[in-house]
Formats: sequence, C-alpha cells, structure tokens
Amino acid sequence: MSDIIVGLDVGTSNVRVVVAAYTEEGNLQIIGIGTSPSTGGLRKGVVIQTELTKRAILDAVEKAELMSGHEISDCYIAIGGTQIESTNQQGFVSVENQGGEITESDIKRVIESACSIPIPPDRRILHVLPYTYIVDGVDGIKDPRSRLAWRLETKVLIVTAAYTTTHTLVTSINQIGYNVDGVMLKILATSRSVVTKDERELGSILIDLGGGTTDVIVFADDAPVYTCSIPVGGQMVTNDIMIVKGITFDISEKIKIKAGCCWEEYIDEDEEVLIPGVGGRPPEAISRKELCGIIQPRMEEIFNLVNDKIQMQTSTKKIVAKNIILCGGGSLMPGVVELAAQIFGTSAVRIGNPIKMGGMIEECYSPEFATATGIVLSFAEEGKKQPEKKHYSTMETKQNNGGILKKLGDYIKNEFF
Ligand SMILES: Nc1ncnc2c1ncn2[C@@H]1O[C@H](COP(=O)(O)OP(=O)(O)OP(=O)(O)O)[C@@H](O)[C@H]1O
Ligand SMILES: [Mg+2]
Repeated sequence: MSDIIVGLDVGTSNVRVVVAAYTEEGNLQIIGIGTSPSTGGLRKGVVIQTELTKRAILDAVEKAELMSGHEISDCYIAIGGTQIESTNQQGFVSVENQGGEITESDIKRVIESACSIPIPPDRRILHVLPYTYIVDGVDGIKDPRSRLAWRLETKVLIVTAAYTTTHTLVTSINQIGYNVDGVMLKILATSRSVVTKDERELGSILIDLGGGTTDVIVFADDAPVYTCSIPVGGQMVTNDIMIVKGITFDISEKIKIKAGCCWEEYIDEDEEVLIPGVGGRPPEAISRKELCGIIQPRMEEIFNLVNDKIQMQTSTKKIVAKNIILCGGGSLMPGVVELAAQIFGTSAVRIGNPIKMGGMIEECYSPEFATATGIVLSFAEEGKKQPEKKHYSTMETKQNNGGILKKLGDYIKNEFF
C-alpha cells in the first residue's frame, strides 16, 4: 500500500469518512470508513456549532483510522447546502491566430471571459464547468482544441460558495489536527461515484436526499448544466412525524426508519407500528398507512420543488432522456423510486449505490456513502496527491485545472485556496 486518500463528508445528519489506498497493482481500494452523527453541529449543510461539528468529525476520523490502520493527517472535503449558488454564463473571444488552430490559451481566455461577472465579496468561485464550445457559430463542440476558427464561444456553469461558511468548516478541521488538501462541490463529488458515463451523456438528474438539504445536479451531453440545493431534507420528514404524533424527534426518526414508506400502495390496510408513549402515556399503535400519510406528502413536496427548479432553469437546454438517480439517506425510504418516477414522469429511476472500488468493506457501497466515496474518486483521479503537499488552512487564491473535471472538458477555478 502506498499513500492514502481520505474523503470527508461533513453532512447535516452524519459525518462520513472514507479512506482509500492504492494496491501494489495501482488499484484504488477502500481500507477504512467512519461514521458519526453530526448531533446538531450543522443546519442545512452549513456549520452552525463548531464544537459539536469538530467532535463529530474527530469521532468519525478516529473510527476510520482504527479500521484502516492508518493515521490520518490530510483529507479532501466537499461543500454543499444553502451556501452554494450556481449560474450559467457565456463567454466569447477572437481566436488569437485568426483562421488558425484554437490553442490552450484561447480556451483559457474564453473561460475567463465567461467568468467576468461580478461576484459578491462574500462569495468565491468554487468551479467553472464549461459544458459546450461554439466554434465560428457551430454549437455542441466538446473539445475545440486544434480546430481552425476565427471566433470561440463557451457556455459554462459557475458554482460559487459562501466564503465564511467554507472557511469555518476548513478551520474547524484544521483545529482538530487535520489538513484540508482540496475542496469541491458535494453533489459533483457524489455524481462521480454514482452517475455512469451513459447517463451523463443521455441526460440525467442526480438527487441527493440528505438530512438537511436535497442537492441536485443535472447532466446533459456529458457535462453538468445545472446544480442547486433545496433547504428541505429527511429531517423535515422526521419533524412532521414528531409534530403530528406528539413524540420526540429521536423516536420519530426511529419509526421513520423502521416503518416509514412514501408509496401508499406498498402498505396493507392492517399494518401497524407501535409508538412508545411519552410522559407516561401508554404506547400507541398507529397504522403504517397513517405514517405514510405524513411522509409521502413531504417527499412529494421535495420532488416537486426539485422538478420545478429544474424546469425553470434548464428549459432551454436539451435533456433528452430523464434518468433520475437517487442517493443520500433519504433514498433508503421504501417507495422513493416509485414516487420519483411519478413526479418526474419517467420510469428510468434508480438508487445510486457508489461504484465498487475494491476492498472488503461493503458498508461504503450504500447510497449514504456516495459523497464520501465520490470525494475520494474525484481527487484520486485529479492526481492532486503531489509529492510536495500544500495544505490549506487559509484561503489564498489558487488556480488549478482538475483531472476529473478536465476529463469532462472542464476547468476548475478554485478560489478557496
Ligand atoms: N432507511 C431509511 N429510510 C428513510 N430515511 C432514512 C433512512 N436512513 C436514513 N434516512 C434519512 O436520511 C437522512 C440522512 O441522510 P444523509 O446521511 O445522506 O444526510 P447528510 O449527508 O448527513 O445530510 P446533508 O447531505 O443534508 O448535509 C436523515 O434524514 C435520515 O432520516
Ligand atoms: Mg449529504
């Protein structure tokens, strides 16, 4: 085993760590994982209580160290939730060598031209993802290099993140003794581990049903064209059960996981679940149909919000086939595939289990681990584990052209380092 790569997913409900290492043959293999509940340290994907967050991260990392037998000092992270915003922009330039071949420098200039938009001082660019190039008016070109042209245009997806919230997370990780070697967008990392090349090309929507947020990314023609985060997640579903049944959040969560369902047809009329009594009340039996009656409308609302946002933002882009991929803890809810199929009007819905990487740890192939494994895969591919490591405890500006993203024809412009 050589160097290790550590992916840290600090989520609203859980902190998850995946440790991977290269085998002698050069294959990436998962050698350790760790999970710890976030215990209220985050709200909607954003750190609100640093001490609680630090404790949860430490606990998860220590578990991963124990399992992997490696001491962890560096990690890669991803950020998401309400601090993320995205915008579609266009740029154009005259090709330097008029009528000659488009060069790397022309591509760099056209991307810079697309990025010349005012960014509020409290935000930084996290990614710039070009999804198409237009060469002398011909659209749909993925790689314009070496084409003869006079004029080069591009359409890009720019993702920005709030500076202070990202800084708080990085600082918290630094304070408990770990270096952060790279930051990326959560849903982009997740997509790396669950969305296939065919799905990206055909057009697909990845929905991460998390605890505090529902994160979305839309692919068309092999590139991300839209991303958003909706501040509603599984915790709100649990909250609804808590309010309607007058029981604690923890009991509601247990009942949701044990007996919850969001597709009424799957439940028989006489199925019941026992709710423990609160404050001396005797336990109460409620029908699973009633429980479903609380859960299903909220899950419908989440999917409708996602659908509306996508319809509004991507109407001009051609998303031929609507493949829907669901991941995150919420995707474990029975009936979620059927409900998504109904709301998005497609039968091409599946649960996104992370792709197999080798190693004996089966637990990490559950959709809840899609983000942490995606972080590992993305940064491993990017080959960012350079001999002279640079750790980022403060956010200086640094340009970088990422491997995984470059493969998609993308350029990352990560302004957090
Ligand atoms: N078997 C299950 N059935 C239904 N819901 C589940 C199940 N298991 C987990 N969940 C829900 O999934 C949510 C947590 O998902 P996940 O761990 O992916 O969130 P997170 O990554 O911590 O949060 P976020 O991505 O929003 O920051 C919780 O609301 C939990 O109730
Ligand atoms: Mg998550």
